[in-house]
Amino acid sequence: MSTESQVNRMEKIVSLCKRRGFIFQSSEIYGGLNGFWDYGPLGAELKRNVKELWWKSMTRLRDDIVGLEATIIMHPSVWKASGHVDTFSDPMSTCRSCKKLVRSDQVWDMLETTPWAEAVRSCAPGGVADREALLKWAKGKGQRLVPNFALVKDPETMLGRLSERSAEAPGSQQHLLQILCTADPSGPLSMPCPHCAGELTEPRPFNLMFKTYVGPAATEDDIAYLRPETAQAIFVQFKNVVDSSRVKVPFGICQIGKAFRNEVTPRNFTFRSREFEQMELEFFIKPDEVVQAQTGGIAKLPEGELPGQPEANWGWEMWHKYWVEERLRWYESIGLKRSSLEEYWQKPDELAHYARATVDILYKFPFGTQELEGIAARSNFDLTQHQTHSGKSMEYFDQEANLRYVPHVIEPSAGVDRLILALLAEAFEEEEVVDEKGQKEVRTVLRFHPRVAPIKAGIFPLLKNKPELVSKALEVRDLLRPLMNVFYDDGGAIGRRYRRQDEAGTPFCITIDFDTIGENGPEKKDTVTLRHRDSMKQERVRIADLPAYLLSQTS
Ligand code: GAP
Repeated sequence: MSTESQVNRMEKIVSLCKRRGFIFQSSEIYGGLNGFWDYGPLGAELKRNVKELWWKSMTRLRDDIVGLEATIIMHPSVWKASGHVDTFSDPMSTCRSCKKLVRSDQVWDMLETTPWAEAVRSCAPGGVADREALLKWAKGKGQRLVPNFALVKDPETMLGRLSERSAEAPGSQQHLLQILCTADPSGPLSMPCPHCAGELTEPRPFNLMFKTYVGPAATEDDIAYLRPETAQAIFVQFKNVVDSSRVKVPFGICQIGKAFRNEVTPRNFTFRSREFEQMELEFFIKPDEVVQAQTGGIAKLPEGELPGQPEANWGWEMWHKYWVEERLRWYESIGLKRSSLEEYWQKPDELAHYARATVDILYKFPFGTQELEGIAARSNFDLTQHQTHSGKSMEYFDQEANLRYVPHVIEPSAGVDRLILALLAEAFEEEEVVDEKGQKEVRTVLRFHPRVAPIKAGIFPLLKNKPELVSKALEVRDLLRPLMNVFYDDGGAIGRRYRRQDEAGTPFCITIDFDTIGENGPEKKDTVTLRHRDSMKQERVRIADLPAYLLSQTS
């Protein structure tokens, strides 16, 4: 559950995102569209850096992964084969009073932070009702807050019902809320609507895929879907990639791209959106039987040890652990501390029917610890499904083993937008500092890792009305700008300019002053002040050394 200070922190992050141009509500001038977000100038740079770093770590820095860029709309049979048409749904309920739709499995989570539910719970500490307090609330504040609540409409009857039924689940606050919201005593207990405390309908499945039509006829036969994940295109193009590249199992195909899910309740800023981006890898491996036959045994990882570098005798379990570790290491390399991350190993009854193991990498967001990425060992389910539905063989001929098989797969699947939110949450800090006049002030700073920072360096002439300073500063800007994103700023006092860059997360600021243009002697000529965002320390650096130094820090 998020504390008040965490809620407050989240509000500050959302407000900074808008104020500084990281993230805006989509179509804001028309009232916005729930679950859709736009990235402003700083957000677009941040996102681009993150995707570039992922792509580089997957493809350029390895020999065993290649890339793909597939279409968003694919043949509808893809989604039939993958199971999305039949089973990609969330349970949904409708409120009988306010008619709002709610994801049935999120109702209790939502009620944790709903003021009216908090008020009812405070009248029933430990699930034991204080009848006097409930009656007072129902006849007072409850009337104003939730007039649809059965307890508010008819307090005496509902409190009577509570006496009759509370023994069914003693001490349970959920049970108590259910009794108090269900008007009909003969039917099953309902769940309360988090919005108005009315009764929710029984959960029913709601398919999350967005539908569209291909071509002008717009009949049932022309229905197509916006992809709900990028992964399926990789499976569908598996054969083409194998036939056209010199890849050999084990190898991976990765893709970055948009995905769409008509989420019932988009929540927590960009965390659960209806349009978002994924960075997915399908890493194809030999089935364990083939590894066993070829190497005489499957490697086992001793308890508490990390997998190390891939070996020929790795089965799916080692590969799976390897990818969990690789991904955690990558998150650290872009500025998420290990202590902000958690691994959650799904329990056997939580696993999808085809998955052998799934690890969720969770991030401690201000609104709770939630999934950033899922890493699943998916057996050969997807390729086999496409083989069955398309009638095309998905078998791979393994020259070393001299046999054909459908490879198995390990799938690290990350959300770009969730990662951007995690990076913002990790970087955001307000600290008390003393300004040049000795006054205390609060400095808002985004402590982005220099690799992801949208602007790598701010470049300032000390004074904007001194042509020599301005032209030298523009020279420095032109030296650096082919190499990285820099920002030239000559407006206002230097302290104010530093603060603006602190809020944007810029790790370095470069000031061109009178020393730079040689007014205080030749030894300092062509040097600048380099100010570090986190320590706020300044040092003198030669202009000629700037490119190599900044590149070493930011790439
Ligand atoms: N191919 C596997 C797959 O799509 P998933 O767990 O449904 O697995 C993978 O999604 C990742 O995509 C999640 O860990 C999350 O980061 C991101 N993601 C999923 N749904 C999202 C949504 N509605 N909004 C933002 N990101 C989402």
